[in-house]
Amino acid sequence: MSIHKEVKRITTHVLQAMKARGEKITMLTAYDYSMARILDEAGVDVLLVGDSASNVMAGHETTLPITLDQMIYHAAAVVRAVKRALVVVDLPFGSYQGNSRKALESAIRIMKESGAHAVKLEGGSEVAESVARILSAGVPVMGHLGLTPQSIYKFGTYKVRAREEEEARKLKEDAQLLEELGCFSLVLEKIPATLGKEVSEQLCIPTIGIGAGRFTDGQVLVTHDLLGITKDFQPRFLRRYLDLFEVIKGATQQYIQDVRSGDFPNESEQY
Ligand code: KIV
Repeated sequence: MSIHKEVKRITTHVLQAMKARGEKITMLTAYDYSMARILDEAGVDVLLVGDSASNVMAGHETTLPITLDQMIYHAAAVVRAVKRALVVVDLPFGSYQGNSRKALESAIRIMKESGAHAVKLEGGSEVAESVARILSAGVPVMGHLGLTPQSIYKFGTYKVRAREEEEARKLKEDAQLLEELGCFSLVLEKIPATLGKEVSEQLCIPTIGIGAGRFTDGQVLVTHDLLGITKDFQPRFLRRYLDLFEVIKGATQQYIQDVRSGDFPNESEQY
């Protein structure tokens, strides 16, 4: 008899049941094996291989430059680490907009080559055809509305979205459409908390908020922001749990000092 307890995997159905029970969903970003292993062991429900890898991992100013091949590389590393969490992968800019056949091909490549469990894409009615086509192949889709960083050059700013009635109305319509198409969940980014609440109450599928207030069915943050590895990003919605930038810098300075002084390696650290 095995003494190891089976880990119950999180599926899209588990997330929907969590919403029905009023249990909050936790999601964090992950881009590599080592970090994904820690976050999964900690018990986070969903790991998002976000296209924020373009900023956090590669140092680009926006999410636009990251490629499908690069997303698959990050996603495969995360999948290898995970025992429990649902792994969702962002379709990168240019891999799904305006061409539903291409969208399906991109989603299939992600699922086949990384072993991930679902994809996420940004937008509402403009990407409805792509969403429907990906879903028709049995690939679960997470939507993303509000501040959609792949459209940053259209918005011109990273400020809060949908403060005006017209944009809020379009967002609510898009949220309904994404649910009707069959999306299993929806990210709401940087919108007023009242709108986050309204959309979360309007939908049967779970909403996951980032800067969308406390009434969404779950929360997501970029892990490197939460841990304080990134330094200059200070939006109001971000709660930093550590200042890992300074912790890592301090440890590195100590190592440099120890090598230079001849303290490392010592007798017990050699063969
Ligand atoms: O790419 C990303 O990290 C995201 C989250 C901020 C939701 O899309």
